[in-house]
Amino acid sequence: MKRKVVVLTGAGMSAESGLSTFRDAGGLWEGHDVMQVASPEGWASDMDLVLEFYNQRRRQLLSARPNEGHLALTRLEDKFDVAIVTQNVDDLHERAGSQQVIHLHGELLKARSTRYPELVYAWTKDLLRGDLCERGGQLRPHIVWFGEAVPMMDQAIEHISEAVIVIVIGTSMQVYPAAGLIYYAPMDAKIYYIDPRPQINTELALRLQLNVMRIKAGEGIPRLVDDLLQHHIV
Ligand code: OAD
Repeated sequence: MKRKVVVLTGAGMSAESGLSTFRDAGGLWEGHDVMQVASPEGWASDMDLVLEFYNQRRRQLLSARPNEGHLALTRLEDKFDVAIVTQNVDDLHERAGSQQVIHLHGELLKARSTRYPELVYAWTKDLLRGDLCERGGQLRPHIVWFGEAVPMMDQAIEHISEAVIVIVIGTSMQVYPAAGLIYYAPMDAKIYYIDPRPQINTELALRLQLNVMRIKAGEGIPRLVDDLLQHHIV
């Protein structure tokens, strides 16, 4: 049986594909009030602003492509049982060819009914006021906003609790519960953290087996993957 590798990715994973991160200089949250565009309250007070924010993101995503990092991760599947747990709402891991991708914060290329949350649709065009589900409810972006439950957490915890290796990539590890997932990794799991400006949160600080690589994803991931495929490792 292949051993389990869990890859926890954030916005930095897609930075070299041309998609902005949230908290870097010039990041998405710099020009926006987070609570206006990423909370149920923001949606209730200005739906058109929220729709336009995600329409822009969706248009940008459709012209982006997976980078060297996304592609290198797929090679890990030759030797390991790989689960990608991503905070990203883009589909670049899937387009690169990763087989198992769990989206903690939803998916930009899906829309769901505000009235019947089980009704979820594939969505690639702009989402507008008046776009309705088959039962007449307004559609909203299929994104987990601040203050909302993170339904995929249980699945993510199940994977990470079986991991021999955890690779954290391009996330500031500030947004919970995602940033707390490390807590569930076995104590002897090896943790790699690839990020040019890593931020060691409480859960990472407790780890003795932490290997921090201060480097961009597009360069660091192929290097680590080569290493894990060729040598050592349990
Ligand atoms: P952040 O913007 O908080 O962090 C991005 C991280 O990527 C930072 O640590 C950067 O140093 C790093 N980074 C930048 N360029 C990189 C590169 N080329 N290679 C590797 N790393 C690079 O983004 P997240 O941690 O993903 O949620 O943010 C978590 C959540 O906060 C998001 O999913 C989003 C946001 O609010 C929702 O919208 C629900």
